[in-house]
Amino acid sequence: MDKNLGRTEVLLNEKKLYKPSAKTLKHARVKQYKAVAVKAAKDPEGYWAKAAEELGWFKRWNTVLDASQAPFFKWFTGAECNIVHNALDRHMGTPVEKKTAIIWENDAGDRRKLSYAELNREVCRMANGLKNLKVRKGDRVAIYMQNTPEIAIAMLACAKIGAVHSVVYAGYSARALRERIDDQAAKVLITSDVGFRGGKVIDMKKVCDEAVQGSPSIQHMVIHRRGNMPVSMKMNRDTYWDALVESQPDRCETVPVEAEHPLFILYTSGTTAKPKGIVHVHGGYMVGINRTFEWIFDIRPDDIYWCTADPGWVTGHSYIVYAPLMAGITTLMFEGVPIYPQPDKIWKVVKKHKVNILYTAPTLIRTLIKFGDKWPKKHDLSSLRLLGSVGEPINPEAWRWYYNVIGKKRCPIVDTWWQTETGMIMITPVPAMPLKAGSATLPFPGVQAAVLDDNGSEVPPGKGGYLVIKNPWPAMLRTVFRNEKRYLSTYWEKFPGYYETGDLAHIDKDGYFWIQGRSDDVLSIAGHRIGSAEIESGLVSHPAVSEAGVIGKPHPIKGETAKAFVILKQGYTGSEQLVEQLKLHLRKEVGPVAVTDEIEFVDKLPKTRSGKIMRRVLKAWELGQDAGDTSALAD
Ligand code: WTA
Repeated sequence: MDKNLGRTEVLLNEKKLYKPSAKTLKHARVKQYKAVAVKAAKDPEGYWAKAAEELGWFKRWNTVLDASQAPFFKWFTGAECNIVHNALDRHMGTPVEKKTAIIWENDAGDRRKLSYAELNREVCRMANGLKNLKVRKGDRVAIYMQNTPEIAIAMLACAKIGAVHSVVYAGYSARALRERIDDQAAKVLITSDVGFRGGKVIDMKKVCDEAVQGSPSIQHMVIHRRGNMPVSMKMNRDTYWDALVESQPDRCETVPVEAEHPLFILYTSGTTAKPKGIVHVHGGYMVGINRTFEWIFDIRPDDIYWCTADPGWVTGHSYIVYAPLMAGITTLMFEGVPIYPQPDKIWKVVKKHKVNILYTAPTLIRTLIKFGDKWPKKHDLSSLRLLGSVGEPINPEAWRWYYNVIGKKRCPIVDTWWQTETGMIMITPVPAMPLKAGSATLPFPGVQAAVLDDNGSEVPPGKGGYLVIKNPWPAMLRTVFRNEKRYLSTYWEKFPGYYETGDLAHIDKDGYFWIQGRSDDVLSIAGHRIGSAEIESGLVSHPAVSEAGVIGKPHPIKGETAKAFVILKQGYTGSEQLVEQLKLHLRKEVGPVAVTDEIEFVDKLPKTRSGKIMRRVLKAWELGQDAGDTSALAD
């Protein structure tokens, strides 16, 4: 990795504070962020123990945090629990039982609602079905399904019996699925016959057949039937979901597991090396996501909550499935494209289901801006109380649009920074906090974050550097599956004693964090270290620009020059004049150092399947190089 990264330039400078309304303040779960954070910092173990006491346990812990094998931290050792006990069992026999747990809707307007009692019954039947297939505690079960209630049922059924689920996003290829199945030696694969997306039918079973061909570990495939097409079924290996659960009892004992028992493995794709199997466990994870969810989204018992992520990503695991169910609220699962068949699909869904909390990603917000304000303006969005953002830095322009046009200046925006590895949200506002457009604000109480230079010293306010986490937190990853070496070298080697996030950030004079993107997405222009995201944000603040991806190209004098790939908003066309205008705009908004030498207008940018721009791929294409592992690429 490049030296000097610690001196990343800070170019953007948003100062305006957006204060919470009296109404927001009145209902806020955390009214005094500072007092709570100071108290948590003084006694983190006491603070997390208190959070843990809000959940149900089969046996209490002896130790809150065991750091004796650091950085292999253990939380709540000696305790026994099961996350499903908190997500479902605990609600049975209470009024929550009758509440809607899941609202599901698809592109075609089909709709299903499952109450907590119904969901519990389906989970029990599937858990019994899995036991029939000889799935035991600790066995790995791969799940390759779309955003339907069945994916949640499959995850919960595994967890209930102590099996480890590993969801592979249903857009991945057979090869990528096989690689993940092999790495964890999964015993069972759960999928569906077909899937639907944007009006297309996807042959899921075929992908799975190809993926498991000759697999040494897979013993069974379970197929959820969605279409009417006959699919080929392999004798003794394949079984339909409905046939498997048909004669299963409605009840199934939830298996008590040690707090440190693995709950799931989720793969993150690296740049060139093979994907890392990130391991999360029952105890600490449930404590971390429960506390963050309730405080950050200011959860109230009747909330209808919609996170537009896919359950195949960590956002879906933590904040579509587990945390909302533990909180006993209604979680909306939308299996469709938020801009299909028209750009107001998302607002139609919000209105129809009276969504109170909307949690989405900057990539979608920028796309919605591109289509113009007329689409949200057609709909009554007054049910919305709180907005969230995750997945990438949200540029101030997009933030303001989200705040003004969608939230009508009423709804706080929680810009939540976290990772597959962190399991839970780490840097984020709580709704009672004054906000700044584009800042993830402050570490969640109990989390200590810092920005370091190359020597591991904390940089002064306004200087960029490496974002690290200074103390362990309960929902942290425990290891990389069967690869402790990689766990150590990826996260703990560069700055001993600190967790390295791989992101760049700076802290402003108010202590607010500004995430500048991944450290491998940094340019070096004439000795200035600049995050691609900052130049992109500058471009997107021009009225003609919808999205931008910026890469560095080798330059004999400057070291690197910037090239921008730009998607224009509807109604604009690319021209020489526009190129000059954009360059002027960058000079004015971000600074002369950020002016890109080349600007190319494009229709699409290469993105990961979760919506992040893959600058590495752009760069490889531009320079005619091999793009390395592109299994994460969406198109
Ligand atoms: C980026 C998603 C800026 C960051 C939960 C991180 C963000 C990576 C934000 C993890 C945010 C996520 N502001 N950047 N609010 N949220 N990121 O593992 O670079 O899919 O390291 O987890 O997304 O992506 P992952």
